Amino acid sequence: MAAKLVVGNWKMNGLGAALDEARAVASGLGATSARVGLCPPATLVERMARALAGTPVLVGGQDCRAEVSGAFTGDVSAEMLADAGAALVILGHSERRAGYGETDALVAAKVEAALRAGLEPIVCVGETLAEREAGRALAVVTGQVRGSLPAALAGRAFSLAYEPVWAIGTGLTPTIAQIEEVHAAVRAELVSVLGPAGARAPILYGGSVKPSNAAEILSAAEVGGALVGGASLKAQDFLGILAGA
Ligand code: 13P
Repeated sequence: MAAKLVVGNWKMNGLGAALDEARAVASGLGATSARVGLCPPATLVERMARALAGTPVLVGGQDCRAEVSGAFTGDVSAEMLADAGAALVILGHSERRAGYGETDALVAAKVEAALRAGLEPIVCVGETLAEREAGRALAVVTGQVRGSLPAALAGRAFSLAYEPVWAIGTGLTPTIAQIEEVHAAVRAELVSVLGPAGARAPILYGGSVKPSNAAEILSAAEVGGALVGGASLKAQDFLGILAGA
């Protein structure tokens, strides 16, 4: 069985002092078989990469601009993240899709940028509560998969993250059957879009993952890892999740 990929998304949290938590994650990993990543705010990427150098913990960004450089005040390119020491980048998070109007086409362009810069993209998809209640969860998620994945991904390392919007930061999680239903649909779509390359990419689950539910979620069919928000901010909680991987 492939190693699980467990990634912490710190979102807009963390000053320099929080690097102690990252160091504590690295020193507490023990014999985990999982691949582990932490995605701090852009201001901490370089410092975290230095702090974790020589450890197995990968560092990532939370978004990037599709262009290499230019007059885009406030934005960060994939090349800049790679230059700062990032190996991963989260793209198409629902907080970016909803808050910044990111479309599938824009996410696909960002994925191409990540590949150009040598970053491993983690592409996020997920339905809102209204979409689930309307019976549209599978259609929405598979549509996002199809629209957000450029053909250039075939043969490259990447992962998908299924994050139901209604489960993010709410303490609510789908049932295991609901997670397995969506992950199976995502897998079929991945294979349809990318061919055999789509059969290998891990499909992470994200949304209110915590130490008490991680083992059950991570052992569900087609769950190749987890994307963790709030519970990744404290090393003890994140290590508790990794214990279930
Ligand atoms: P929470 O784990 O805080 O629900 O956040 C999930 C998420 O959005 C990770 O990207």
